[in-house]
Amino acid sequence: MAEKVGQHKILVIHGPNLNMLGTREPEIYGHRTLEEINAALKAQADRLGLHMETFQSNHEGEIVDQIQQARDSFDGIIINPAAYTHTSIAIRDALSLLNIPLIEIHLSNTTKREAFRHTSLISDIVTARISGFGPQGYLLALEGLAQLLTKPERPALESQATEDSNHEKP
Ligand code: DQA
Repeated sequence: MAEKVGQHKILVIHGPNLNMLGTREPEIYGHRTLEEINAALKAQADRLGLHMETFQSNHEGEIVDQIQQARDSFDGIIINPAAYTHTSIAIRDALSLLNIPLIEIHLSNTTKREAFRHTSLISDIVTARISGFGPQGYLLALEGLAQLLTKPERPALESQATEDSNHEKP
């Protein structure tokens, strides 16, 4: 694994069937392939000065292994567990081992879909969730994570509100 001292390191994990993006139910997930999404993410990571790696697996245990290995080597994780979102206590338990920001992402708006997709077994342990923006959501997640890592003590809106109220002072 490449070591980039001083740079925040982000791991993006894609769960099962996301390797089929582009041809998989494009009316729901869009036409972009996973390679295209990863390339856009890489360009955004470079712009933001982040070191980013991506991982995709169709296998629950491999995702668990990857999360465990990330424990000491990454500063933040963006994860779309795909169908495992709704079923995997093992992935939830692995994520619970980590003490870094975790962003849950879904291409589709899962709460607008079938009832079995309304439950996420990780939503109460992640830092933030993005759902329904399609591939663009990954870029939003990366930008949000970059903000969290560089200004963890002041979320953007809070600092914006403070700046606005400062302007109002005589
Ligand atoms: C998904 C939503 C899941 O319900 C589904 O099983 C997926 C993709 C999404 O990105 O919208 O595979 O996580």
